[in-house]
Amino acid sequence: MMKHEDKSNEKKREKDIEKLVKKLTLDEKLTMIHGAALFASGAVERLGIPAIVCSDGPMGVRAEFMDDRWIPAGNNADMVSYLPSNSALASTWNTGLAHDMGHVLGTEARGRGKDVILGPGINIKRDPRCGRNFEYMSEDPCLIKALTVPFIKGVQENDVAACVKHFAANVQETGRLIVDETIDERTLYELYLPAFKAAVQEAGSYSIMGAYNKVNGSYCCEHKTLLDRILREEWGYDGAVISDWGGVHNTKEAAECSMDLEMSVFADFDDYILANPLKEAIQKGEVSESMVDAKVTNLLRMMYRLKMIGPKKDSREKGAYNALASRQAILRTAEESMVLLKNENRALPLDAKKIKKLAVIGVNAAKIHADGGGSAEIKALYEICPLAGLKMYLGGNVKVEYAPGYHVPVKPKTFDMNWQATSLDDLKNTTVGQLQRGIMDGNEDHKEGEQERLAQIEKDKAEIHEKNQALFEQALALAKDADAVIFVGGLNHDYDCEGSDRPDMKLPYEQDLLIEELLKVRKDAIITFVGGSPVEMPWRDKAQAILWSYYAGMETGNAFARVIFGEVNPSAKLAETFPEKYEDCVTAKNGQFGIWDKITLEEGLYCGYRYYDKQRIKPAYCFGHGLSYTRFEYSDLKLKVEKGREVKLTLSVKNMGRRSGAEIVQVYVAPIAPKVDRPDKELKAFAKVHLSGGRSKKVSLTLKSEDFAYFDTDLHEFIADAGDYEILVGASCEDIRLRGIATLS
Ligand code: BGC
Repeated sequence: MMKHEDKSNEKKREKDIEKLVKKLTLDEKLTMIHGAALFASGAVERLGIPAIVCSDGPMGVRAEFMDDRWIPAGNNADMVSYLPSNSALASTWNTGLAHDMGHVLGTEARGRGKDVILGPGINIKRDPRCGRNFEYMSEDPCLIKALTVPFIKGVQENDVAACVKHFAANVQETGRLIVDETIDERTLYELYLPAFKAAVQEAGSYSIMGAYNKVNGSYCCEHKTLLDRILREEWGYDGAVISDWGGVHNTKEAAECSMDLEMSVFADFDDYILANPLKEAIQKGEVSESMVDAKVTNLLRMMYRLKMIGPKKDSREKGAYNALASRQAILRTAEESMVLLKNENRALPLDAKKIKKLAVIGVNAAKIHADGGGSAEIKALYEICPLAGLKMYLGGNVKVEYAPGYHVPVKPKTFDMNWQATSLDDLKNTTVGQLQRGIMDGNEDHKEGEQERLAQIEKDKAEIHEKNQALFEQALALAKDADAVIFVGGLNHDYDCEGSDRPDMKLPYEQDLLIEELLKVRKDAIITFVGGSPVEMPWRDKAQAILWSYYAGMETGNAFARVIFGEVNPSAKLAETFPEKYEDCVTAKNGQFGIWDKITLEEGLYCGYRYYDKQRIKPAYCFGHGLSYTRFEYSDLKLKVEKGREVKLTLSVKNMGRRSGAEIVQVYVAPIAPKVDRPDKELKAFAKVHLSGGRSKKVSLTLKSEDFAYFDTDLHEFIADAGDYEILVGASCEDIRLRGIATLS
C-alpha cells in the first residue's frame, strides 16, 4: 500500500483485483504481462482492461512510433515541451522546481494519452564518461533522493505513472546489455539504492524499470535479490516492475521473480519471453500459474491507481501538452540550472548597454539538441538555441555576429529509423526470437557497432583538423573586432548518448585549441558550454568567466541570455564533480569502467567527491560549486541534539550584495572517530535560500538518525553509532563556512 492510500479503499481494490484475476484466462493474463506493441502491453477487451501505454522519457514525451516498427508515426501532432535534462534539473538543487518539472512531464504524458512515462532516470554518475549521464542527476544519493521524490509526485498527480529507472546501478553504456557489475552490499545499500528506495517509499512511484545490466551475476530484470528481497520484501513495494526494453532473458527466472511486464525492441510479440515460452513452461508444469497471477495483480493495481480501471475511471486527469504554463516553468528551471563556474573581474554579467557588436563563436551557440541522445530524444515544439536567445534579448540595434569556430562532422540522421531500430535492422533476414535474443545477449554485432563508432571518431579527427584552420581564422577575426565575445562550445548527443560511453573527457572538435587562441586575442572572452557531462578545461586559468549549461530544454537560449546579461542571477551548483582531468577519476585509476562484459566497483563508497576528499585530489570544480553575481555570508550555526539521535540545526545566511540571488546551503556530516571505514564527509541536507540584496534569513534543517548511519552488512541494517560527528555547513563540498560538533548517544 502506498503512503497516501486509504485503507478501506485499498481493501476494496484488492478484492476487486482478485476477482478480476480469477476471471482472466491464462492467455489473457499472458497478454497483459508482455509487450503487444513496442510501447504498450496487451489489452483484454472482454473484461474492459486496457493496454498500458508507455512512452519515453525524461526530457519530454517522445514522438509516436508505429506499434511494430521503429518508424515514427509521421505526424506532427506529437511535438511537445522539451524539459531540462535531469542533469540540468539537479544543478538547480531546487526541490520545488523538481516537482514542477515532474508535473509538466506528467501533464504532457497524460495529454498525449500515456499511462506510464519512462523516467526519471536516477542512476548514480560514477564516471564522467558514461554516455547517459546527461539523463541522470548526480553522483550523490542524498541530492538525487531530494529531487526524485517531488519529481515523481509531480508526475503522478496527473494520473500517469512514473517509471523510475534503471534499477539498479546502470552505470555505463559499454556492453550495457550484458555487463556484470560486482558491487559489495554496503556500497549498493549506501550509494546505489537509496534514491530508488525513496522513489518507492516516499514518492510512491507506481512503476519502476529493471536495468539491462547484471549485478553480482544476475540480470537486473530477473534478479531475485533486487526485485524480490529488496524491492518487495524490504521496501514493501506493491507497484509494477517493467523491464528495460529487451532486458528479460530467461523464462523461468523472469517468471519466478517480481518482473511484471516484459517490454522489448522486437516485434515478435508472441515470442517474448513472458509470452509463448512462458505458456509452454506453465503447461509443462515448470512454472506455476500463480506467478503470472502475481504479475497481473501488480499491473492491475497500477491501473487502478491510474484510474484506468475501477470506480474512479471517469475522473482521470486528462492532461495537456504544450501549455504556456509549462513553458514558463521550463524557463524558470533552465534559468536556475546554469552553473557559473568562474567569474573573475566581474566579467559577467555583460552590460547590454555597452555592446554595439557582439561576437558569438562556437557551434553550440546555434545548435539544438532535443532530437538526440537515444531514447531521451524528443520532437520539441521548439528549442531556442543560445544564439537565438542572445539575439532575441538584444534586439535589432546590436549587431550579433556568429562564427562556428570549429567543424562538427555531420552524422546523417535517417528519419525512418533511430538507434533502437539498428539492432532490429541487423535481423531483417531472420524471423524469430532465438537469434534476436542472441543480439540482446550482447553478441558480437553490438560490440562491433561500438568499435566502429570509436573508429569513426578517430577518422573524423582528420576531417576536423583540415576544416578547422579556416574556421579558427574566421572566428578569431570576428572576436578581435567585437565589443564583447561569447564562446558557446561543449558536447552534443554524438557524445552524450545512450548506447555508448565517451572515449575520454576532452572537448571534441579541437575546441581546446580554439579556446586557447581565442583567449590570446580576447582575454575577456566569456567561455560557455552546453553539454551533458564534465569536460577537461586545460585553459581554465586563462579564462575570466566560465558558464556551464546542461541540456536545459526548449527555453535554453532565453535562460542563457538572461543569465549572461544579469537579468537572472545564477544560482546553480554542480551536482557532480568536474575533475581536472580524466586520470584523476577513481574509475580511471582502478580501470573498472567501460569494460565490455564485467566490471567491479572496486572503489566501493568512494565515488565522486567521496573519492576526491579521501585522496585529497583537487578537482577543477568540486561537487556543490557554483557562483552567483552576489556574495553570501554564513553565520550563527547552532546545533541541538534531540533524543540523542536527531540534530536540529539553524544558521543565518546573508546576501552581502545589492542584487537578489539564491544560495544553496549544503550540510555535510563527518564522523569523527567512526568504527568502520567511512567517507570523510557526506551530503545529508541542503536548502536553497532566495534573498534580496542586503537581506539575511535564518535557515533551519534537521538531520535524522539515518543521516548518521552506515549499512552494517552483518546486521543487514543501517546503524547510527553513538559518538561525535562534525557538521560542516558550506557553499560547496570544499568551501566549508561553518562547523559544529553533534554528539549522538
Ligand atoms: C532504454 C530505456 C528506455 C527504453 C524504451 C531502452 O533502451 O534503456 O531507458 O526507456 O529503451 O525506449
